[in-house]
Amino acid sequence: MNLLHIDASPRDERSRSRPVAQRFIECLHEDTSVTVWPVWEMDLPPLGTGMIEARYDLIMGNAVPEKHVSAWAAIQNLCEEFLRFDAYIISTPMWNFGVPYALKHLVDVITQPGMTFRNDREGGVVGLAGGKPAVIIAASAMPFGKDEQMATLDFQSAYLKTWLNFIGIERLDQINVSPTFGPEEDVTKEMLDAKSRAETIALKWNDNLQTN
Ligand SMILES: Cc1cc2nc3c(=O)[nH]c(=O)nc-3n(C[C@H](O)[C@H](O)[C@H](O)COP(=O)(O)O)c2cc1C
Repeated sequence: MNLLHIDASPRDERSRSRPVAQRFIECLHEDTSVTVWPVWEMDLPPLGTGMIEARYDLIMGNAVPEKHVSAWAAIQNLCEEFLRFDAYIISTPMWNFGVPYALKHLVDVITQPGMTFRNDREGGVVGLAGGKPAVIIAASAMPFGKDEQMATLDFQSAYLKTWLNFIGIERLDQINVSPTFGPEEDVTKEMLDAKSRAETIALKWNDNLQTN
């Protein structure tokens, strides 16, 4: 299995989301190959005025204007690379109730008509990354994932689930790493619990991959 790990934490070894992703990966079948996309270190093309007009051209079925062709080739390559993987991990902190802007930038770059989704004749959307599993590892200081009342404020996992569904990835698991703020012993326990949930889901992935 070729796995893509999209790592959206800019933090060093103090990251809370990354060690849970790493535990998940350690538990996967030994011939899993893992590629990491550290979103804060990726040289993603900016999507300014011209580039976005080119996207509207594409969506209308027209060619990309000459001056944007090479930048669009970079986007196309990244989309193709993204689609080559068999499974995805997204580990991310919550930032201001959503995801960090570097992760949003990647999503905006690789969500392209004719590449990761297409429109059907009825005006609906067909995701082009279908049939693959993904796991969202969502860290937050506040207890999202535990406190139902807070669920309406959780645009981090709601956004990622909606986006993954949009591009056709519907086999989703989620591991919340939260709360990551509070007394040290509580946070330590939460990290252990989150890693244990990661182990359970990774073993489930191993079983499913063997039977598929
Ligand atoms: C800019 C910024 C905004 C944040 N916004 C939220 C937030 O809205 N809700 C929350 O629960 N935690 C928030 N946090 C806390 C992080 O989600 C939390 O520390 C998380 O564990 C970080 O994960 P990481 O260590 O893997 O980067 C924010 C942190 C930063 C740096």
